[in-house]
Amino acid sequence: SGVITLDPGYKNSGSCKSEITFLDGELGILRYRGYSIEDLAEKAHFLEVSYLLIFGELPTVKQLEQFENDIRKYTLVNEEMKNIIDGFPKTAHPMGVLAALTSALTAFNPKSVNVDNEKEMYEAVCKTMGKFLVIATWTYRKSMGYPLNYYDNTKGYVENFMHLMFELPTGPYTPNPIVIDALDKLFILHGDHEQNCSTSTVRMVGSSHAGLFASISAGVSALWGPLHGGANQAVLEMLEEIHATGGDADKYLAKAKDKNDPFRLMGFGHRVYKNFDPRAKIIKKAANEVLATLGVDDPILAIAKKLEESALEDEYFKSRNLYPNVDFYSGIIYRALGIPTDMFTVMFAIGRLPGWIAQWKEMRENKEPIGRPRQIYTGHPLRDFVPSEKR
Ligand code: CMC
Repeated sequence: SGVITLDPGYKNSGSCKSEITFLDGELGILRYRGYSIEDLAEKAHFLEVSYLLIFGELPTVKQLEQFENDIRKYTLVNEEMKNIIDGFPKTAHPMGVLAALTSALTAFNPKSVNVDNEKEMYEAVCKTMGKFLVIATWTYRKSMGYPLNYYDNTKGYVENFMHLMFELPTGPYTPNPIVIDALDKLFILHGDHEQNCSTSTVRMVGSSHAGLFASISAGVSALWGPLHGGANQAVLEMLEEIHATGGDADKYLAKAKDKNDPFRLMGFGHRVYKNFDPRAKIIKKAANEVLATLGVDDPILAIAKKLEESALEDEYFKSRNLYPNVDFYSGIIYRALGIPTDMFTVMFAIGRLPGWIAQWKEMRENKEPIGRPRQIYTGHPLRDFVPSEKR
C-alpha cells in the first residue's frame, strides 16, 4: 500500500542488513567480516577465508583442519550425474553446464536443510563446497573429451582444482606452487562482494525457501552475464582482438565512448566503486608478479596496461569515474596459469561460492521475508476482449 518508489537496478535501495562484507565505494575499501581484503589476500588461504565468510570468525588451526576434512568427505559426486554431463554437447559453455549440474544436485540431495540446526547447516556448507568444485572442473573435462577426475584426498582444496582440471591418465601432474598460490589469492579476492547481481539472486531465490543448490545454481546464471562475472572472459577476448588487429587500443577507447556503439570497455566501471576497485589493484600487482615468476612474456599484458593508462587520462572515463574493476587483470593471470578462456567465469564462481553460501545462510537465519519487489504499471487500461475471428 502507499506510494511505490521506483529504483531500477536498485541503485539506491538496500535489500537487507548484513554482517558479512563492508564496502566503501568512495574510499575503495573492501572488508570481509571486518578484515581488510589486502590483509586476507596476503596472509590467509582460501578455505580459511571461506570459513570466515560463512561462519563469521577466522577458524582455529583445529577448526580449519576439520573444515578441510569435512569438505573432503563430500567431494564424491553421484555417478548418475555423469549421464547428465554426457547429454551436453562438447561445445556447451561451461557456465551453462555448471548451472545445470548445480541444479541437478538437488535431485540427488532432495532433503531440505533445516537452517536452525547447526549441524545440518554445517554439513550442507561442506557438501556444497565439496561438490561444486568437482563439478566445476568436470565442465572443462567434458568440453575437452577427457575422463573425469576425482578429488585427491592427499591434496588441498585449491591444489585439487588443478589436479581435477589437468591431470591426465598418461601420468601424474604436479602443478607449480606459484600457480596454486596465485589461484588461492584470486579465489579470496572473489570471495564476496555484498549485494552484487548474483548474490542478490541467490538471496532472492532462497527467500522463497528454495534449497541451497537451487539458489546457488541461479547465482551461477546471474554471474554468467558479461556485465557481471562474464566480464573476465569478455576482457580477454577484447584484448586478444586488439592484439590480433594490430594493437590499436585507442580505437577501442573511441568505440567505448561512442554512444551510438553498444561496445563498452570490458573490465571498466563499477556500480559501487567510484574511485578505484581495491581488488583490481591487488590483481594488477599479482599479474605482474605471476607473469615475471613464470617467465611468461604476454603481449596482452602490455595492451591492457596501455588501455588502462589511456582510459585513466581520458575525460570520458574520468568524468564518469570509470576505473578498472576486478575483471580487468584477472583473465591475464588465468591465461598465464593455463586456464582456458571460457573457464574464467567458472573460476569467478568457485571463488564466489563461499560468499553465496554465507549470504544465503544469513538471509535464512535472519528470517528475511520473501523477496517481492513492486512495480509501476504502464500498460493498457481495461480493454474489451475481442474474439479471435474479429482481430
Ligand atoms: N565503457 C564505457 N562506458 C561505460 C562503461 C564502460 N565499461 N561503464 C559505464 N560506462 C558509462 C555509461 O555508458 C554511462 O554513461 P552515461 O552517463 O553517459 O550514460 C556511465 O558510464 C554510467 O554507467 P552505468 O551503466 O549507468 O553504470 P552502472 O552502475 O549501471 O553499471 C557496470 C556498472 C559495471 C555494469 C558498467 O560499468 C559496465 O558495463 N562495465 C563493463 C562490464 C564490466 O566490466 N563488468 C564487471 C563489473 S565488476 C565485477 C563483476 O561484477 O564481475
